[in-house]
Amino acid sequence: MTFEKLKQDPRMPNHIALIIDGNGRWAKHRGLPRSMGHKVGFETLKKHIEYIQDLGIKNLSIYCFSKQNWNRPQEEVDYLMKLFDEMLDEYKIKYMDKDVRIVISGDMDDERIPEIVRKKAKDLMESTKQKTGFILNPCINYGGREEILNAVNTLILNGEKDITEEKFEQHLYTRDMLPLDLVIRTSGEQRTSNYMPWQATYSEWYFTKTLWPSFSKKDLIKALKAFMKRNRRFGAIKG
Ligand code: IPE
Ligand code: IPE
Ligand code: MG
Repeated sequence: MTFEKLKQDPRMPNHIALIIDGNGRWAKHRGLPRSMGHKVGFETLKKHIEYIQDLGIKNLSIYCFSKQNWNRPQEEVDYLMKLFDEMLDEYKIKYMDKDVRIVISGDMDDERIPEIVRKKAKDLMESTKQKTGFILNPCINYGGREEILNAVNTLILNGEKDITEEKFEQHLYTRDMLPLDLVIRTSGEQRTSNYMPWQATYSEWYFTKTLWPSFSKKDLIKALKAFMKRNRRFGAIKG
């Protein structure tokens, strides 16, 4: 199946999430420092953002840095922050004149994140918030449990009662996004690692042993084809 044919398939997902795992192991296998794995991983990511946009998929979430990733050596964290800084500069140049909204899911008030990164992230979110096309959602300093607790605390502070799913979802980072259809995790790990527990309750999960820096266009197509074959029942009886 070609990209063109895939594009016309009505079973295409609206919202995909990528857990871009395996950068460190990719580097280790080559006798390189972990930072090189992240560098190449972020080059791979750029290509996939384009493929996913080309496919007409409306929302893309990417797990870039978890709340728990602060437990890594400072040198690695610093390198990742430098990559995020560059990534935000690139997004600004690339998407400012396009119908692309940037949402950054995660705690952007955390002072452990360099001030310049927090500022660039907030500016980019603010300046693209009116756009209605593609939503690009890199998740930086994100934790799913933390996101849920924040929502709960905000609702309590607002004195809200009779909280419905709809009201609750208004306090999640994904509030303006479509339901999460497919989560792809690379590197062979089969766990969620605190990623979108609320949003992924009825998502399809696709696991591949491929390490993220090596994840190719072919691999993406394979994942999409697998997704399209799934029978999503949502608790009912279908198919
Ligand atoms: C995931 O790759 C990328 C980030 C956490 C940013 P890892 O760094 O977790 O790579 P492995 O899992 O150690 O191979
Ligand atoms: C999940 O990967 C986070 C990102 C990809 C950013 P981890 O490598 O941090 O997850 P664990 O530690 O293997 O569960
Ligand atoms: Mg990992």
